[in-house]
Amino acid sequence: MKKVITYGTYDLLHEGHIRLLKRAKALGDWLIVGVTNDNFDRERGKLNVRNNVLERVEAVKATGLADQIVIEDYMGQKIDDILKYEVDIFAIGSDWEGKFDYLGEFCEVVYLPRTEGISSTMLRAETEKEIRIGVVGCGRIAQRFVPEATKVERAVVAGYYDTDRAAAERLAEESGVGNVYDSYEELVAAVDAIYIATPHLSHYEQSRYALEQGKHTLCETPLVLCREQAEELFALAKSKGVVLLEANKTAFCPAFTHLITLIKSGLIGDVVGVDASESKLWSEEKLRRELDPEMAGGSLYEMGSYPLLPIMKLLGTGYENINIYSRLNDNSVDVYTRGIMLYPNAVASFQLGLGVKTEGNLVISGTQGYAYVPSPWWKTDYFELRYEDQNRNKKYFYSWDEPGLRYEIREFLSCIVNGRIRSSRLTPEESIAMAGVMSQFAERKNLFEI
Ligand code: CTP
Repeated sequence: MKKVITYGTYDLLHEGHIRLLKRAKALGDWLIVGVTNDNFDRERGKLNVRNNVLERVEAVKATGLADQIVIEDYMGQKIDDILKYEVDIFAIGSDWEGKFDYLGEFCEVVYLPRTEGISSTMLRAETEKEIRIGVVGCGRIAQRFVPEATKVERAVVAGYYDTDRAAAERLAEESGVGNVYDSYEELVAAVDAIYIATPHLSHYEQSRYALEQGKHTLCETPLVLCREQAEELFALAKSKGVVLLEANKTAFCPAFTHLITLIKSGLIGDVVGVDASESKLWSEEKLRRELDPEMAGGSLYEMGSYPLLPIMKLLGTGYENINIYSRLNDNSVDVYTRGIMLYPNAVASFQLGLGVKTEGNLVISGTQGYAYVPSPWWKTDYFELRYEDQNRNKKYFYSWDEPGLRYEIREFLSCIVNGRIRSSRLTPEESIAMAGVMSQFAERKNLFEI
């Protein structure tokens, strides 16, 4: 029996799909159709697939052309499937010409001419518009954000505002898209969503204003430095029915998300400890803003939300107490901070340095094993699960696409497009609890100088 396999998303099943399936089936006696899973599509940047995987499977089934349907879940699965099902022919539309030649080692590869004039993207585009994003604060991080936005379907950077107009003009010119506005209010009025990349102390006012105007808001981390402000902003977003998301890039990257789901599935037993660190040993010149007391400088404000992320995701937001130990410089800015958080059945710790260097890894200790993520763990692309019996140890490899902002933009757009105002990858409660740690630090509560 000659087996043929083909893959696709098959969203809004159309004539092009059906013709492809017919011709693929005619190549052999048994047709296997791989339908991409929702998560897999999201990771590939396809955010706006209309039908979920079950609906898409049903649609393919209803054509009566597939003898077998499989779900495509991960990169590299095509080779696994070809070997597992002893496939003779891999068939795909000619829009992929050349892209799957590597499968020729395992079976015959056939590119079938694509049907002109129709695609799922086209059908979706008829009813969907772009999301126009306005950028406020045109410094280092915004310069990385703008090219990253081009990697996300439907995201369009449409405008800029900066108190230093020349910085906004430079960014607009470099990116070749979007207008420069004379005021923040004008920028907000002109777009669907706002990305806030200004210094920490502007975040609250700017987020509040954008949300009040009914605009989706992606705000750089830390969102705010005070718990009440975070609560107020999320309540405002909810009442306006818009998305407010803290741009903590690690929270949305595929490897970190997978690490969290593996651990929540019990692969290392109960989590009893989370230890995470991050430090920068840059020149004083480069750290000028980060160490400026007038701009809420210091290692906790600057980087604290990163180690707090795995702590809160795995142990929750309900810690019993937190002690903070800091080395403050002459301006009372913390250049090194260590925090210890006590939970009902677990303890977490973090170390942060600005002008102090330390190992930047993440270790999650459990009753059956531990997870180890080497430095720089916040750009997660690799981790290991380790056990007493080393034969059980497992290594997980991924890629991190520098500078990694596309993941948060993808999540932001996905929330907007799908009408989800909360992200499970970084929930409002987690952002609020992180702001709570910042509040405690600001109030110098349980703070010990070293
Ligand atoms: N296909 C085709 N002719 C079309 C559209 C799709 O032959 N007009 C083929 C693709 O080449 C692929 C299969 O149908 O082999 C499934 O493709 P899929 O990516 O699901 O469909 P598209 O309509 O191309 O979807 P999108 O626009 O979201 O990429």
